Amino acid sequence: GGRTKIAELLKSTAFGTEVVVKGWVRTKRGNKNVAFIAVNDGSIIHNIQVVADVAKFDENLLKEITTGSCVKVAGTLVESLGSGQPVEIQASSIEIYGTADPETYPLQKKGHSLEFLREIAYLRPRTNTFGAVLRIRHAMAYAIHKYFNDHGFFYLHTPLITGSDAEGAGAMFGVTTLDLNDVPKTPEGAVDYSQDFFGKPCNLTVSGQLEGELGALALSQIYTFGPTFRAENSNTPRHLAEFWMIEPEVAFFELEDNMELAEDFLKYLIRYALDNCQDDLQFLAKMYDAELIDRLKFVVENDFVRLDYTEGIDILVRSGVKFEFPVSWGLDLQSEHERYLVERHFKKPVILINYPKEIKAFYMKQNDDGKTVRAMDVLFPKIGEIIGGSQREENLDKLRRRIEEVGVPEKDIWWYLDTRRWGSAPHSGFGLGFERLLLFVTGMGNIRDVIPFPRTPKNAEF
Ligand code: 4AD
Ligand code: MG
Repeated sequence: GGRTKIAELLKSTAFGTEVVVKGWVRTKRGNKNVAFIAVNDGSIIHNIQVVADVAKFDENLLKEITTGSCVKVAGTLVESLGSGQPVEIQASSIEIYGTADPETYPLQKKGHSLEFLREIAYLRPRTNTFGAVLRIRHAMAYAIHKYFNDHGFFYLHTPLITGSDAEGAGAMFGVTTLDLNDVPKTPEGAVDYSQDFFGKPCNLTVSGQLEGELGALALSQIYTFGPTFRAENSNTPRHLAEFWMIEPEVAFFELEDNMELAEDFLKYLIRYALDNCQDDLQFLAKMYDAELIDRLKFVVENDFVRLDYTEGIDILVRSGVKFEFPVSWGLDLQSEHERYLVERHFKKPVILINYPKEIKAFYMKQNDDGKTVRAMDVLFPKIGEIIGGSQREENLDKLRRRIEEVGVPEKDIWWYLDTRRWGSAPHSGFGLGFERLLLFVTGMGNIRDVIPFPRTPKNAEF
């Protein structure tokens, strides 16, 4: 590449040395004697200022340097007095790699709304906001692998195409090679999946958990980290059709251990962002959310509340608040209820446990009361549910009875039941929604703005 990254140049004090930068022009201003060109290469939120003496350069070349164009600049690194950065470059030569016609290039200097940027999501990585978000996204992905590696977990790759429904949520994307215009039928008139690629109906996975459990019952501690897919038609600022999930699964863990892991893991990740992403966090705080950094510090420094679902419902009922959705024992919590508990009642993250079995998945360990299961949801300020997890039912008979009650065909998950037949063990795990984590860490308000290419209903263009 023959260049120095701007992140490195801005830390340098080697004044007087010759350097080369390559990047995209954010702004150009100046007068008839001198041009000031702000260049960004994505390595850091800040631009480097390039100073060009107009007399030394071809007039047409300078004209073609406009917002969005891509340039190579060679010059001398000098101390800067006016650029807002410690250094700038006194240009000796400039080459244009690609121009960007100001008549058509959509990302002109003025600030753009996040809504507008969503319409040009294929270009928005070139804005300060998405540069910051994407660098933080990278840092969090790295920190996730580092945390688990340092704690002796193994990264297990679970399949994206599956023949089972892990959550029983009934909102899956089918995977087929059958011709929709000419579907083969059985003599009874049903779709003949024996002619399909896998010989049976298959779908994109909603969770790697069931396969993760197979791994945990052999390697003791595993985690998955990959894309998951849900065809739920919920157009909210917190749902995507394609999102990334982190799912640790640990043999011999009970619910209490699972809660400790979840709290320690989340605090580690947020601390990692505070320690490693200061520039980007400060930019986002200044632009969108003045309380962002205090909120992150608060979560790292305070214990999460642990609370029974039953007590949570009591608090909500006694609050007297008129919620949009009703609250009573047996109903699932909506995000307005979760946020009431976290933001107004406790003013801290809450781990809510022991939910009614009817509103949770079939695989959760049943409590002795016959009504609740060893589920845990971690609820966060501004987000609501950030983690969902549980201790798993390890008893074969109880698991089979539950599967029958909820109507999962045994022929679809016989292999899962076999883990309870041979060498079953207590075990627990959870799923952290990666984009929900990023919503919290970046302070962004819409989940479409923390993933490079959001997939939502009627939106898969780029
Ligand atoms: O609560 P969920 O559905 O749990 C599971 O899938 C379990 N199998 C996890 C496990 O125990 N291994 O999803 C887990 C998390 C949620 O708490 C939420 O953060 C995120 O995944 N999530 C979504 N994020 C974005 N868009 C969606 N449509 C999401 N659905 C769930
Ligand atoms: Mg959940």
